[in-house]
Amino acid sequence: MPANYQTLADELTHLANSAESPAHLMTMIVERLQDVLTHYNWVGFYMLDEGADGAEPMLVLGPYVGAATPHTRIPLNQGICGAAVSSAQTVVVDDVNSDPRYLACSLETKSEIVAPIFVNGKVVGELDIDSHLPAAFKPEDRLLVEHCAALVGRYLEKAA
Ligand code: SME
Repeated sequence: MPANYQTLADELTHLANSAESPAHLMTMIVERLQDVLTHYNWVGFYMLDEGADGAEPMLVLGPYVGAATPHTRIPLNQGICGAAVSSAQTVVVDDVNSDPRYLACSLETKSEIVAPIFVNGKVVGELDIDSHLPAAFKPEDRLLVEHCAALVGRYLEKAA
């Protein structure tokens, strides 16, 4: 990881130890990522609502920074967001306009990364980042975004 990425990852690890709640931790993560990495134009969490009484499972928008999105609830069979949760894998899309799964938030978005959050091996949500630059997300971005998702997963495991 480049030095500024490592510094940010370490800072967020430290913040995770003092966070007051999952929402507080998620808010600090989205704000710091967007402050430090200017190509992270939209940064937000979606958390999985399993759906009670036969309701369809949904990803529900949590803390975010960036343009308001019409996608506040996303079914698991829709979007890059749904794909990451359904496959339990990080999804990186270099050109969102050539990916038929893509649900548009801002017309300016060119690339996207989504990393799942695991609690005791089970996906409970995800961290989603959009960039106005094409192919903005390199291997070091993937490591950082997965690190942030893991911080939230570990926090939720400890809180349970
Ligand atoms: N682009 C996402 C939807 C979320 S908004 O970008 C914030 C998707 O394709 O699932």
